[in-house]
Amino acid sequence: MRNFPRIDGHRELVPQGCPQPRWEEPGGRLDRFGGARRDPPAYELLRAAAEFLTLRHTEERLGDPARRIAAAHAEIADTGTYRHSTEELVFGARVAWRNANRCIGRLYWRSLRVRDLREVRDGEDVAEASAEHLREATRDGRIRALISVFAPDEPGRPGPRIWNEQLVRYAGYTRPDGAVTGDPRNAGLTALALRLGWPGGPGTPFDVLPLVVQGGGDEKPACHDLPDDAVLQVELTHPEHTWWRALGLRWHAVPALANMCLEIGGVCYPAAPFNGWYMGTEIGARNLADTDRYDLLPRIAEHLGLDTRSDRTLWKDRALVELNRAVLHSFDRAGVTVTDHHTESRRFIDHLGREERKGRRVGADWSWIVPPISASATPVFHRTFETLEHRPAYVHHPEALARARGEVTAVSTAGR
Ligand code: ARG
Repeated sequence: MRNFPRIDGHRELVPQGCPQPRWEEPGGRLDRFGGARRDPPAYELLRAAAEFLTLRHTEERLGDPARRIAAAHAEIADTGTYRHSTEELVFGARVAWRNANRCIGRLYWRSLRVRDLREVRDGEDVAEASAEHLREATRDGRIRALISVFAPDEPGRPGPRIWNEQLVRYAGYTRPDGAVTGDPRNAGLTALALRLGWPGGPGTPFDVLPLVVQGGGDEKPACHDLPDDAVLQVELTHPEHTWWRALGLRWHAVPALANMCLEIGGVCYPAAPFNGWYMGTEIGARNLADTDRYDLLPRIAEHLGLDTRSDRTLWKDRALVELNRAVLHSFDRAGVTVTDHHTESRRFIDHLGREERKGRRVGADWSWIVPPISASATPVFHRTFETLEHRPAYVHHPEALARARGEVTAVSTAGR
C-alpha cells in the first residue's frame, strides 16, 4: 500500500512553525485540532530566506543577493515574515516540484504555471478559485501543470487550508456492514463532510466530494460543491472488450494535490493546490486495483473468464494489464492527456541526465519512482537513487494528512 500508511512511515519534512488553525466542532465531536506550534525561531526564518534568495539569484544569474536578503531580513525584523515577489514565488514553486523525491514527472518542472492568489484567504473564495484552477488546468483535456498559491501562514494569522487531499476525490460512504461504496480512501473525509452539513451525493461509487475548506484565520471548515463544469471525467472502455463499458468505471482527468504545504524560503503556503497529468498506472494499478481502494481485479478477472482459484494462474497480473490498457485507451479516446509508465520512466532518466549536466543532484525515492506494474521493464528499476531533502519543497504536514482522513483529533504533538 503506497498510500497513507506508507506516507506516515516515511520520514516527513515537517517545517517548524506553521501555526495550525484551531477549530472546535459544536458539540465537541471534533476536538481542538492541532495545537499551537511554536513560531519558528527568527534565525531559522532568516536562514531559510537567505538560502532561498541565494539559490534564486545563483540559478537565475541575478548577481549578488545581498541587497535582497537584507531587505527580507529587515521585513522579518519588522513583521515576523517577508513577502516573496511574484518571480520568487514562481521560481520557488517550480523548484519545489524539481525537488519532489516521489515524482517521476519532473522533466517538465520549468513548465509549471503559477497563479499568484496570495490575497485570497476567505474559504468561499478559495473554493471558487480552486474550481477555476481545475478549469484552467483541464482545458478540455489538454492538461497543463498548474499551481494556485493562496495566502501564506503569517505569525498569528494562519492561511487557508483545503482539507481534501486532492481537489477532485470520490466519496466513500461507509455502509452499516462496514463496507464502503466508492473510494474507501476518502471514507473519513466523506463522513466529516456529512457532519459538516454536506447532504451527500447520489450514492454512486464515483460521487465527487465537495471541497472542505477552512478559510484563513480561525474560520470554520465548510463544504463547497465543485461545479460540474470544473470536473472532467473519463468513462472507461477497453480497446477490444465491448462489455467493459458496462462495468461503469470512470476516473477524473486531473490529479490536483490540495493538502501539501508549499514551503519556500521559510514561508509556508498551506493552500497551494497543484496538478500535473496522470500516469495511467496511478489509476489502473492503484486507485482501481488496490484491495483497500476499488479492489476491482476479481471482478475484472471474472469478466475476462480467468481462473481465479490460484494466484499461480497470474489472473491478477492479467487483469491488471487489461485494466491499464483500458485506462490509457479511454483517456486517449477522450482526448485527455495521460502518460504511460514506459514513456515516463525514460523521461525521468532524461531528466536525471539534464540535471546532472547542470551540476545539480536529483533526489528520488526508488519505491515511489518505480512503477507499480512491469517494474523491471522500465529503466528506473535497474538503478538506485538517493532521497534528498532539498528546499523549496512540497511537504506533508501530519495535521493535513489527518484532516484528509477526516481525523481531527490527537495530533497536537506534531511538529514539536
Ligand atoms: N497518485 C495520485 C492519484 O492517483 C495522484 C498523485 C499525483 N499524480 C500526478 N500524476 N501528478 O490520484
